[in-house]
Amino acid sequence: MNSSFSALQRIAAGAAILAGGALWAAAAPGADGDDKRGYRVAHAKGIVCEGTFVPSTGAAKLSKAAHFQGGSVPVTIRFSDGSADPFVPDNSHNAGPRGMAVRFTLPGGGLTDVEGQDHNGFAVGTGEEFLALLKAALATDPSRPHPWPVETFLRAHPRALKFVQHTAVVPASYGTAAYFSNNAFVFVNKDGVKQAGRYQFLPVAGRRDLSDAEAGAKSRDFLAEELRTRFARGPVEFRLVVQLANAGDPTNDASLVWPDDRRTIEMGTIRITSVVTDSDSAQKALVFFPTSLTEGIELSDDPLPALRTSAYALSFARRQRASQ
Ligand code: HEM
Repeated sequence: MNSSFSALQRIAAGAAILAGGALWAAAAPGADGDDKRGYRVAHAKGIVCEGTFVPSTGAAKLSKAAHFQGGSVPVTIRFSDGSADPFVPDNSHNAGPRGMAVRFTLPGGGLTDVEGQDHNGFAVGTGEEFLALLKAALATDPSRPHPWPVETFLRAHPRALKFVQHTAVVPASYGTAAYFSNNAFVFVNKDGVKQAGRYQFLPVAGRRDLSDAEAGAKSRDFLAEELRTRFARGPVEFRLVVQLANAGDPTNDASLVWPDDRRTIEMGTIRITSVVTDSDSAQKALVFFPTSLTEGIELSDDPLPALRTSAYALSFARRQRASQ
């Protein structure tokens, strides 16, 4: 990396790549010959794994959802680099945020999804703000003098700046990052008691990020390679935790992090055992939806899940078209 490139320039460039890639498909279905058309327009590079989820005994008190009632259920997990570039080096500062998407196969049939990113607090809270970020990113031409539009946006939105700064850090492993849904959902138990909360996937192995020197020494596909090595030693486990909102905590703005003293509920353990046989085909066919819920889990007043589901469907349609 050019050492004269300041931290904010690097961050702004990262945001431009991330957000610009994200706007994407909706506006531009992808020209013929575009080698990225067959991939997600965000979180394009990933690996699909499988395992099980075992709920903890307290999970049913929060939600009557079938997978929280006891017994083990199968899960499909996709880990990803957040970049729009399917060929991004895993050790690049522009590859983040890392993602962990989980699909639970419910007892008795049905599916439900949860996605998380490795930063507590999303960059923005509303679709309008996200659009403003995308427009600033798209209007940014790195050959033009500073301040770039995306730099101006980030200076005016400190939580977005923090998001972009933190997600530039390279984790040691997909299995040593913590992932946060950031979006709030409402959990309903069998007595009809409703409680808002946000999901966290916390690595049992502990969190570990790489220094710049350590990251620089890694290979471009090291996150997938490391995961396969880790599976050879044993399962990769995450605690599924829900952070509960206190009365008055905002549920409609995913960029506003609730204080650490909020109660958390241990919902169970996600135990990931292997990479699926053909991960590349599997990830093209898979799409996770933030609004794919089940009885016992409801949308809150958070505006992002519905917006995200529309965007994910567009992105899915684009990669399907590309493989026709
Ligand atoms: C709380 C905030 C968010 C979180 C936690 C999140 C998380 C994720 C994750 C984990 C993935 C990868 C899913 C997979 O592996 O298939 C993903 C993909 C994606 N995200 Fe987000 N995201 C967030 C906000 C947004 C927003 C606001 C947009 C734009 C409206 C967006 C657009 C996309 C798109 C288009 C994809 C590709 C989906 C596909 O093709 O399957 N995300 N996101």
